[in-house]
Amino acid sequence: MRMPLVIGNWKMHGTLGEARVLATALRDGLKRPRGVEVVCCPPFTALAAVAEILGAGPIQLGAQTCHHEAAGAHTGEVSPAMLADLGCRFVLLGHSERRRELGESDGLINRKVGAALAHKLTPVLCVGESAEERRQGLTFTTVEGQLRAGLAGLAGDTLGRIVLAYEPVWAIGTGVTATPGQAAEVHGYLRGLLSELASKEAAQKTRILYGGSVSADNADALVAEPEIDGALVGGAALNAQGFIAIVRKAARVGAAAKE
Ligand code: PGA
Repeated sequence: MRMPLVIGNWKMHGTLGEARVLATALRDGLKRPRGVEVVCCPPFTALAAVAEILGAGPIQLGAQTCHHEAAGAHTGEVSPAMLADLGCRFVLLGHSERRRELGESDGLINRKVGAALAHKLTPVLCVGESAEERRQGLTFTTVEGQLRAGLAGLAGDTLGRIVLAYEPVWAIGTGVTATPGQAAEVHGYLRGLLSELASKEAAQKTRILYGGSVSADNADALVAEPEIDGALVGGAALNAQGFIAIVRKAARVGAAAKE
């Protein structure tokens, strides 16, 4: 059974004070989450403060991106080594906002995935089609291209150490969620590809999260799908009670569905 995973992506939100309040509320509200793994990804500026608040508790720390080298003359960048040093265990890579706004290519994302793995961070590789691509029937072609390129050249045994996130671009921040059926169909396709690229065993172990307007109202139906192993949550992760409700639902429904 794959342990459900819920990741909060705080994006570019929050002063240090606000991040402390949110992290404290999450820590106090999720003292012993059972049957679910929880990660929060604050902006770089809040990582150290949130790390201190979460301490050795069950909520793990992640970052929203990283550079592909360990150190060097790369003004403004943050390396995977620095993130690991701060206590990060996860890093989001290939988020559609970075692909679109910053022109991150599949090749660059591939180097970042390799660098994250080399520093013992779990990369959360995000893939997803645009509304236009879905309209044109290119959903599978798009996510397959992103997955193959994102994992190119990585040793088969490392593929079992990644997390995938299917995030249809048209569902991110729009309030429009993919139906559980639409998401499960893509998740199944991605798992089939992983099976080919790594092994059937690695593919069965890999968690594939759904992201895109996940809320406390729709989380149960999504995670109830056997192919959906948790959620990557943006907007709803900024509200502690809402995020905690999503985590609880993922734990309950996820465990029941996958038994
Ligand atoms: P959203 O964002 O939940 O606000 O749609 C999800 C994401 O971008 O990871």
